[in-house]
Amino acid sequence: MATRAPGRLCYVCPVAFGGEAGAAGPAGRDDQPSFDTSVAHQARIYDYWLGGKDNYAADRKAAEAAIAAYPGVATGARANRQFLARVVRYLAREAGIRQFLDVGTGIPTASNTHEVAQSAAPDSRVVYVDYDPIVLIHARALLASHDDGLIDYLDADLRDPAAILDQAAQTLDFSRPVAIMLIAILHAIGAEDDPYQIVTRLVDAVPAGSYLAISHVASDIDAEKIAEATARLNQLSHQHFTLRDHAGVTRFFDGLELLEPGLVRVEDWRPVSQLERRNRSAVWGGVARK
Ligand SMILES: C[S@@+](CC[C@H](N)C(=O)[O-])C[C@H]1O[C@@H](n2cnc3c(N)ncnc32)[C@H](O)[C@@H]1O
Repeated sequence: MATRAPGRLCYVCPVAFGGEAGAAGPAGRDDQPSFDTSVAHQARIYDYWLGGKDNYAADRKAAEAAIAAYPGVATGARANRQFLARVVRYLAREAGIRQFLDVGTGIPTASNTHEVAQSAAPDSRVVYVDYDPIVLIHARALLASHDDGLIDYLDADLRDPAAILDQAAQTLDFSRPVAIMLIAILHAIGAEDDPYQIVTRLVDAVPAGSYLAISHVASDIDAEKIAEATARLNQLSHQHFTLRDHAGVTRFFDGLELLEPGLVRVEDWRPVSQLERRNRSAVWGGVARK
């Protein structure tokens, strides 16, 4: 097992190892997370919902406040994680994809993208991208590639897709199909940052035969409860979340061929067992082919 990453991770060093809290992050914006445990972060809240241990009191407080408003939020997180694994398995096994650009990595947990992809196709290449220093530290410690494949980690912001594409090109061959994975991240991008344009920019960079996979918290499933849970998170966490309805999420796939069963609750996207379907979510998920 080998990994080719440490050089890239030095992007986070100034912040992760004693840099100024709140200092501008990878895209030079001052609203990117720093290594601050006093404020809840999306990655660590999600880790708590998944039963992980890489979270702090502020994260647990925000996570519990959301659960109190909408108890389904934790099962939704698990359903989302299972969706991610099923999508990667499908792409590697059935669609023949060998390159993955996974933006919004999250703190590594079970069945990470490269593990699922490389168990089906060991030569798979995965580029992980996240803008939270804590994610990149854990990624370095926990993620290791199969010798036949390659993984890389970028400290970059989805709101700067040009920088992501530029750095990812050191590992991925953009003349061959790539799966763009935007799993549980786009709801952290508000309208002011034009998330549709960001997705278009990424999709434009990959050839025909590539895929786009998205999951996104829904505004139109259990609407009142999810709105209250989101309002609480927006008060307590670094990131602000923007929910979108079925039409709003479908729009991200404009111009692409949406695979069956279309945009559905993540647990209804090709579940392999009734057990998987039991984790109900308020999260839309879908996969499309370019
Ligand atoms: C809820 S986690 C999802 C993790 C994983 N994709 C999954 O679905 O299991 C969302 C991740 O997106 C990251 N994130 C949010 N906004 C981002 C941005 N603008 N650029 C890069 N990463 C971002 C957060 O730091 C967090 O790690």
